[in-house]
This record gives sequence, C-alpha cells and structure tokens, in this order.
Amino acid sequence: MSGVVVKNMSLKLGKTLSITGVPNSDAAHFVINVGNSENDIALHINPRFDAHGDTRAVVCNSYQKGKWCEEHREGGFPFNQGEEFKIRITFTKEQFLVAFPDGSEIHFPNRLGEEKYNYFNFDGDVRIKDFGIN
Ligand code: GAL
Repeated sequence: MSGVVVKNMSLKLGKTLSITGVPNSDAAHFVINVGNSENDIALHINPRFDAHGDTRAVVCNSYQKGKWCEEHREGGFPFNQGEEFKIRITFTKEQFLVAFPDGSEIHFPNRLGEEKYNYFNFDGDVRIKDFGIN
C-alpha cells in the first residue's frame, strides 16, 4: 500500500479519530484504512467520485486473510472534489461509527474484534490536512 502510513498512534476503545482532508480537484477516489497492518484492515473507507465502476459512492469493507470481505454501502456521498471534509470515526467494541459534518453516518462492524488499532493509511486522490485521536 502506498500513500501515507501512520504507525505511531493507536485508536483504542471509546476514542475518536478525526480526519480533515481535501480531495484533489480531479479526484477519482481516495482511501482511509484503519487496522493492524496493510494485510489486516478493520475499516477501509473508499469514497469513489468515479472509480471501480461507481459514481459518488462510499464503499466500506475490511481486508482479512488476504482478501476483501463483504462490502458495505450506506447513505449518501458527503464529498466534493476540491472541498475540505471532516470525518470523525468513533471506535467501540462493536463498531466504527463514521460521522460526517452533514449529519450522515456510516456504521461499520468491528469484524476483526480487536480493542486497539495502530495502523492508519491514507491513499488516493486526497491531501490530508489534519489527523488526530481524542
Ligand atoms: C475493490 C477495490 C479495493 C477496495 C475494495 C473494497 O474493488 O479494488 O481497492 O476498495 O473493492 O471492497
């Protein structure tokens, strides 16, 4: 996996990961991954402006034992090319609650079942401006 990798932070139960970024003005898609390693991804968020056959869809999934699991698509598409976005991801034992400023949410199950994740990866057509865990 290319892009930016952060390994020196950890997302623990009850904590919230906040991300501010700007998709490129000609963005096709970008990726936010949360997991234990590039082969062990608990939460893959893939906003697709126009990629993999999708137009304006947010595709979520996990990557386990060398393969993608069942895709999860929910809600609208709260992104625009060239426009700053903020995402808040609250982590509990059961799920990741992904919240957007427009009030929309995605609920993605904690399929790996871990209580802590310390691998974060950003990739694709996006510039990450801020990233923190509170
Ligand atoms: C695939 C795509 C991967 C990932 C996955 C999610 O089609 O190549 O990058 O987004 O879908 O299910």
